[in-house]
Amino acid sequence: MRRKIIAGNWKMNNTLPEATSLVEGILNGLEQSTNITNRDLLDIVLAPPYPYLNLCKDLIKGKQGIYIAAQNCYSEEKGAYTGEVSAAMISSIGAKYVIIGHSERRNYFRENSQMLMKKVDLALKNNLRPIFCIGELIHERQSERHFKVVRQQLADTVFLMKENDFRRIIIAYEPVWAIGTGLTATPEQAQEMHSFIRQLIGVKFGRKTINNISILYGGSCNAANAASLFAMPDVDGGLIGGASLKAGDFVSMIETLSNTNK
Ligand code: PGA
Repeated sequence: MRRKIIAGNWKMNNTLPEATSLVEGILNGLEQSTNITNRDLLDIVLAPPYPYLNLCKDLIKGKQGIYIAAQNCYSEEKGAYTGEVSAAMISSIGAKYVIIGHSERRNYFRENSQMLMKKVDLALKNNLRPIFCIGELIHERQSERHFKVVRQQLADTVFLMKENDFRRIIIAYEPVWAIGTGLTATPEQAQEMHSFIRQLIGVKFGRKTINNISILYGGSCNAANAASLFAMPDVDGGLIGGASLKAGDFVSMIETLSNTNK
């Protein structure tokens, strides 16, 4: 069954006190909320910067259905890679997820498909579930190549996996032109692409796998537009950047997702 997932990608934001009060704000908001239904069908994921992973893990201790993710991991197992952090380290602090292939990593850090698949491999070996990001650039959408681009991104990466491994992946469709720009994909554009991705998964891995893979939308998704995006039948949740830095907004988006029928 497809799980609903909402993940907050904090990116390079927050000092230690800010990180603490954000997590506390989210936990308080969740505790006080009377508007969350079917809590057991929904996973909440927080992806803070590396230095706060352990702290966040401690803060959510004993809270059901809330998990910690890293925003990245390195593509080698261990050794002389100054400044890098391995999947094994992330897993050892109790994180359950890792974001891989975010467009900012692909763009600023030149991460290519081969490197991303090494990361996915190491993540799975260390019991981390990859939240794998794909999405087209603005000129690719304008020239109507977005389906082709997304299909190729999948073919070059996670479609090379064995079916059993692939089932542990979460896909995040993030049109690059919508990330941090305030330009959200319309619900129809998101639905159209999510349904396309789901069809490709079906062709590649079969019907059973389709029903196991959650596909999240990301890109200027916020408390105001979440309801219309999450209402789409193939949108199983969101990877949220800016709006996940405000406890109230993030909790409101969690409420919205919990109340959708899938
Ligand atoms: P945004 O970021 O919500 O700030 O657009 C989303 C993401 O990059 O994951």
